[in-house]
Amino acid sequence: MPRIRPDVAAISPYVPGRSIEEVASEIGMNPDEIVKLASNESPDGPFPGVVEAATRALAESNRYPDDDLRDLTVALSAYLDIPGDHLWFGNGSVGLITHIAAATGGPGTSAVYAWPSFVMYRIASRWAMTEMIEVPLDHEHVHDLDAMTDAMRDDTTIAYLCNPNNPTGTIVTSDAMTAFLDSVPESTLVVIDEAYHDFVTDARYATAVPEALRRPNVLVLRTFSKIFALAAHRVGYAIGQPGTIRELRKAQPPFTVAQVAQVAAAASLGDRGELERRATANSAARHQLLGVLAERSLPHTKSEANFVYFALGIPAEEAAELFTKRGVIVRPMGGEWLRVTIGADHENRRFVHALDDILSAI
Ligand SMILES: Cc1ncc(COP(=O)(O)O)c(C=O)c1O
Repeated sequence: MPRIRPDVAAISPYVPGRSIEEVASEIGMNPDEIVKLASNESPDGPFPGVVEAATRALAESNRYPDDDLRDLTVALSAYLDIPGDHLWFGNGSVGLITHIAAATGGPGTSAVYAWPSFVMYRIASRWAMTEMIEVPLDHEHVHDLDAMTDAMRDDTTIAYLCNPNNPTGTIVTSDAMTAFLDSVPESTLVVIDEAYHDFVTDARYATAVPEALRRPNVLVLRTFSKIFALAAHRVGYAIGQPGTIRELRKAQPPFTVAQVAQVAAAASLGDRGELERRATANSAARHQLLGVLAERSLPHTKSEANFVYFALGIPAEEAAELFTKRGVIVRPMGGEWLRVTIGADHENRRFVHALDDILSAI
């Protein structure tokens, strides 16, 4: 056995949502009857025209990808109305998180982030040999920004803020965000992960993109994996000041975004009507599911994302197993909390049916 760094050996590996095929063979059910609501994926396929564009790009598979992502930069720059030199792309936003952690961390540094939040902040910090300072969410499962500010030290080089937060779906309001950013020293990079930005309806939320454009120590992360339904292609991006991006990018290998993925992402940006339809469908279904949880008096958070977070009153692993047996894959989180992705209407109905069946059995 080769010798592995002890701190890496101690990592609990990232656990992806269970696949339909794996569960189908475990419970002996037809894969078509199983619904997967465990990975916050889109229930819909890619946007119209994307598969055709990506298929055409396959013919150029002998070539390395465009390392400057020119076409995607032009398309996204127009879509966001942001100059192209303020954009940086990676192999999913997870890819960017690892490069950012490598560029800002290292022995003698620390990272501050909320807990529970997206587990990759923890894992990337460990890889970068950065000390982790995890600040519990408040009693409403919202980032406790005062406690995060208090937790920062002279050696804190990075703070992560997931807005809306995965797994709770809760938001930091724009006023609270501005006050927090004002309190952070300029030497600390604040990474605001807006993977679920397009699903938010609460008027107290605002994107931090304007902050990222005007403050050199703020970076906003977005992804094509959620509302744009391209999770398989691994395209994420950061918005920030060109000087900050130039430095961070030194920790990224070349050619990290495949050409087919670049083409698929660029082809997704032309149809704002489709994006609005999907966001509206998500918020209607979310409203309905939160109503179901409230009617059954189950503790839950005020999610603004494409998932809901609730507790059944039994250990989460046990509860997830009860759903799995009924052909519904959900995600166990810490303690008694479960996270369930909002799916298509028929999938959401399957979830509610399984939930009621479990509630009558336990
Ligand atoms: C908060 C958050 N950030 C980033 C990601 C991953 O995005 P990507 O697929 O672009 O790596 C996820 C995926 O679940 C997420 O929940």
